[in-house]
Amino acid sequence: MTNKPHSHAQWSSRIAFLLAAVGSSVGLGNIWKFPYMTGESGGGAFVLVYLICILLIGLPILMSEWLLGRLGQKNPISTMNRIAGRLKRSKAWVLIGVGGILAAWLILSFYSVIGGWALAYIRYSATATFTGLDGEGVGALFSNLLGSPGLLLLWHSLFMILTIAIVAGGVAGGLERAAKILMPALAVLLLVMVGYAATTGSFEAGLDYLFNPDFSRLDGDVILAAMGHAFFTLSLGMGIMMAYGSYLSDDVNIGRTALTVVVLDTIIALAAGMAIFPIVFANGLDPAAGPGLIFQTLPLAFGSMSGGVIFGTLFFVLLVFAAWTSAISLLEPIVEWLEEKSPLNRLQSALVAGAATWLLGIATVLSFNDWSAFTPFGMTVFDLLDYVTSKFMLPLTGLATIVFVGWFMGRDEVRAQLNMSGMAFAWWRFSARFIAPIGVAIVFVYNLIH
Ligand code: PFF
Ligand code: NA
Repeated sequence: MTNKPHSHAQWSSRIAFLLAAVGSSVGLGNIWKFPYMTGESGGGAFVLVYLICILLIGLPILMSEWLLGRLGQKNPISTMNRIAGRLKRSKAWVLIGVGGILAAWLILSFYSVIGGWALAYIRYSATATFTGLDGEGVGALFSNLLGSPGLLLLWHSLFMILTIAIVAGGVAGGLERAAKILMPALAVLLLVMVGYAATTGSFEAGLDYLFNPDFSRLDGDVILAAMGHAFFTLSLGMGIMMAYGSYLSDDVNIGRTALTVVVLDTIIALAAGMAIFPIVFANGLDPAAGPGLIFQTLPLAFGSMSGGVIFGTLFFVLLVFAAWTSAISLLEPIVEWLEEKSPLNRLQSALVAGAATWLLGIATVLSFNDWSAFTPFGMTVFDLLDYVTSKFMLPLTGLATIVFVGWFMGRDEVRAQLNMSGMAFAWWRFSARFIAPIGVAIVFVYNLIH
């Protein structure tokens, strides 16, 4: 494709692009959500299905989003509009972009509340609150936080303000430079935690739980959860990666870069699991404790290790940073869309989108306390938001994306974008046309009729 009229600036280098993509993908999904979902689903069988989904579904969809973005050169809605129009395809494909923006709003509303938990834990950690706590103590600390709508709202607001500030200022570049140091630091600290678990916790029991699949725990729900999380953790199905793809220069190899992101994201998630489950088993805690899992396990380690105050504080600071870079990538497309479709300027768009997200976040705040008995469809508001996005919206838009690339775009155009050798491309195309869409469709339909 040579017709790239007045396209916006391209990433200075592959590294800058990689940092932004990793910044979006590595976040609470890896360190908070992956371990608790694994625990709720019974361990290794979930992990195995998750890894399969990442490779067979997540990777080809990530590549599809990037190649569409690189061709479209604009926000996801315009990208789909433009490519579908040029190929004389239905304008209905634009719904991929619309669904993505809606999903981003829903996700950020609860993501910010959990980011707020992490902020609160910086404070607990820095004030040595964990020192000497036992399992019961960390449980009480967490329940107190969850039981206080005022506190949760405070931290949620702070996290949202941090996110709005960056997006409003359009200064994500500075953040990107910080990410160059802070993301590796997070990885190193996670490895330190794994090392700690290896020397003090029930390391073998933890590894066994993670990597020794108990197939009796496998059912439709677990498979759907694993597949949904593959989308969530890679930031897929929201048009975010598509928007990033529009910054990708032609000489960047999409396949190699996508594989790098996928591998990094997976390593961080697995490391989090390897740090947490040994602590769970060493202290007789419940792996199925749910969303509070990391907040009720890691403080035990920080409270008893030497230098725990510093390590703990640093850990939660880095966790907030990782969450922050992901949250920015969630707010950005909403703001861009508002800026384009309304008379508002960037600052106003950021404030309006941020306020709307903050407001919806209050429902999640209350779902842990005052509204905990309010359970439409048998779920709390938080669970419902999580369900609707990860298990419904993301897989659906992801499916549409890969069907579009696999079946509605020309073979040669896709091949030129991916720049793959004959054999590799044949494999890629087969998975994009058959394996990934059929996989998503089967899981989806099975769960709909179940
Ligand atoms: N991928 C992020 C994580 O794993 O924490 C969460 C996320 C970011 C989801 C951006 C979706 C998204 F568009
Ligand atoms: Na992730």
